[in-house]
Amino acid sequence: MALFTGALAALLAACAQNRPYDTLDPAGPVAQKQADLFWLVFWIAVVVFVLVEGMLVYALWRFRRRSAADKPKQVHGNTRLEIAWTIIPALLLAGVAVPTVGTIFDLAESPQGAMRVEITGHQWWWEVRYPDLSVVTANEVHIPTGQPITFSLESKDVIHSFSVPRLAGKQDVVPGRTNTINLSATEPGVYLGLCQEFCGLSHANMKFRVIAHEPADFDAWVEAQLADVVAPPPAEIEQIVTGTCMSCHVLAGLESVTGEPPGTPAPDLTHFGDRQTIAAGRLPHNTAEALATWLRDPPAVKAGSKMPDYDLTEDQIEAFVEYLRSLK
Ligand code: CUA
Repeated sequence: MALFTGALAALLAACAQNRPYDTLDPAGPVAQKQADLFWLVFWIAVVVFVLVEGMLVYALWRFRRRSAADKPKQVHGNTRLEIAWTIIPALLLAGVAVPTVGTIFDLAESPQGAMRVEITGHQWWWEVRYPDLSVVTANEVHIPTGQPITFSLESKDVIHSFSVPRLAGKQDVVPGRTNTINLSATEPGVYLGLCQEFCGLSHANMKFRVIAHEPADFDAWVEAQLADVVAPPPAEIEQIVTGTCMSCHVLAGLESVTGEPPGTPAPDLTHFGDRQTIAAGRLPHNTAEALATWLRDPPAVKAGSKMPDYDLTEDQIEAFVEYLRSLK
């Protein structure tokens, strides 16, 4: 037992350095309850394992063959033993069901005063809307610490799965149906999320992050998000922005050439410069070089990207990089 616990501790310590997707490193009350339930069931299973294996090894040793002539007593069936090893596991499972069902109902309940966030899954990015704050963003969900959040999840195309392992479990994102998941973060920080249901070519490139702020910092973020784009695009790319980009992307405060809202939904770019990542985490750092690489040929960077290669010149790319990164 001591050896086993020691080995487990060593294994966990080895992975402790960098484990942003670890459900056993909970960073909020929902994930904590899930982890508590896991450990409860795990330790019950460990006790059962040790007892059963212990009895097995003991029986192997105690009743081993001692001489060539040695024949064990021939027996068949033992009603008392068979009833015991049927009833004990049944009781154990019934016992484990009590906290399990309790936790499931507890976590399914939307907490009083929860902030609402609407998530829409797209191939391959996440649309994020705050219906009570009129804020729209993509792939990065900002939340205040200590505040319960209720996400309502919908999909525009196929089944995705919304998962932030350190804050909550995961929940399927299904077309034509609204699922919910609750979570809250205790400390400010960045909590990584990912799609956990195979959804096509760039399933593995459908990441997002939950960025938890102190409540005052969150209010400041909301304030900044409510503003329109800071400036019109420079002359050399204005035509492309209002004519091409805006047939899919929103840049609040700019008028598209058609005057219509975007036909194909794509990430809202109004505050692109504020984002930490590009293309749903495919490029994990929003740097000038990464953005230029993306604009040169999006489908080459992210397989299946709905954003085509527009054959931009290097001068145009440079103007785009400077402009988009200025949109804070
Ligand atoms: Cu979306 Cu996998």
